[in-house]
Amino acid sequence: MTAQLEYPEIDDDNALLSIQGLWKVFGPKAQRVPRRPELASLDRAALAAKTGCTAAVRDLSFNVAPGEVFVVMGLSGSGKSTLVRCLTRLIEPTAGSLIFEGEDLRAADEKRLRALRRSKFSMVFQHFGLLPHRKVIDNVSYGLEVRGESKPDRRRRAQEVIDLVGLAGNEHKYPEQLSGGMQQRVGLARALANDPDVLLFDEPFSALDPLIRREMQNEVVRLHREVGKTMVFVTHDLSEALKLGDRILLMRDGAAIQLGTGDELVGAPADDYVRDFVRDVPRADVLTLRWIARAPRDGEPLDGPELGPDTLVREATRLVLESDRPVKVVSEGQLLGVISDEEILAVVADPADKHWSARPADSRRGDSRSADRPGGSSPTSSAS
Ligand SMILES: Nc1ncnc2c1ncn2[C@@H]1O[C@H](COP(=O)(O)OP(=O)(O)OP(=O)(O)O)[C@@H](O)[C@H]1O
Ligand SMILES: [Mg+2]
Repeated sequence: MTAQLEYPEIDDDNALLSIQGLWKVFGPKAQRVPRRPELASLDRAALAAKTGCTAAVRDLSFNVAPGEVFVVMGLSGSGKSTLVRCLTRLIEPTAGSLIFEGEDLRAADEKRLRALRRSKFSMVFQHFGLLPHRKVIDNVSYGLEVRGESKPDRRRRAQEVIDLVGLAGNEHKYPEQLSGGMQQRVGLARALANDPDVLLFDEPFSALDPLIRREMQNEVVRLHREVGKTMVFVTHDLSEALKLGDRILLMRDGAAIQLGTGDELVGAPADDYVRDFVRDVPRADVLTLRWIARAPRDGEPLDGPELGPDTLVREATRLVLESDRPVKVVSEGQLLGVISDEEILAVVADPADKHWSARPADSRRGDSRSADRPGGSSPTSSAS
């Protein structure tokens, strides 16, 4: 029952981070669990009863593309923190492979790992993890100090990232003098200071109140646009996941349930668990026209306005409702389908409608690339 979750466009050659068959089992003789099929196939509760072990991460395989925001989502205990910590071996995986920029991380020795953690990865934690007796500027430059950079270089770089995250003027305050949101900006600045290739976030905003939280999410979107780092972002909040994630991995009990873009999770949930998870999402804000386009009917006029398949339903609503002809959904000169009032209203008027598990228009046309996208089918269906 290997869940093979691969994104066709991101293969092992162009991935920044490639994870194959990753397991983390806590408990006595943990090594045997991934090796022995009769144990590996047990669900979490049965495994715990039989062996006393917890499979925090079970058999995960996925690639992260350079520059991508990869969100890991799941309820408490689903294994998100264990997974991100395994990526830099802060937690030692029990089995599986981790390839980063072509390098086998599981073969790296302690020295190499420390160097990688200092220069290639940065982590932002839920509880900020700031040093209380150090001023903002010294918290931000801490990693550079550890790396042995000169004081003027540290100061210059720290000031740059302090400006970048909007903390200018607070350089000489101590963490306790700052609000939670500002403290997390210090956390962000510290993570950015050493110019890592990958930023790892473990529920960085869940201790913040909702308004500040939204502000910080916008900040991450802005920073991603400006500095373009690859990000692995853990959250249990679906709206946060949809807002930030290029793709979202949904975990349950350590296993992958679905990996896909936000519209794939909402438009084609892999099972009832995912369907339940996304039930309250406003469909029109997430679904794109590819999900609702239909074949033209006989005699229907085909000279209406055109929109691309990536247009959000919300953005298309006005044009479709105002047009007296069906709107054409066109990609690279090809007509994928049409949309009239009824398709729009079905999404807008009934946001809890559960009948969107149709496949997107481009995959219905037999475009194999899209048809194979993981959101379009259950994650186990492409198991090797
Ligand atoms: N050191 C450990 N020893 C034993 N079990 C552990 C250990 N760390 C985590 N676990 C178990 O592994 C599972 C996954 O935990 P993990 O902290 O990764 O989940 P999470 O998705 O990050 O949860 P949360 O949203 O609450 O942070 C849980 O059942 C947890 O109890
Ligand atoms: Mg956690």
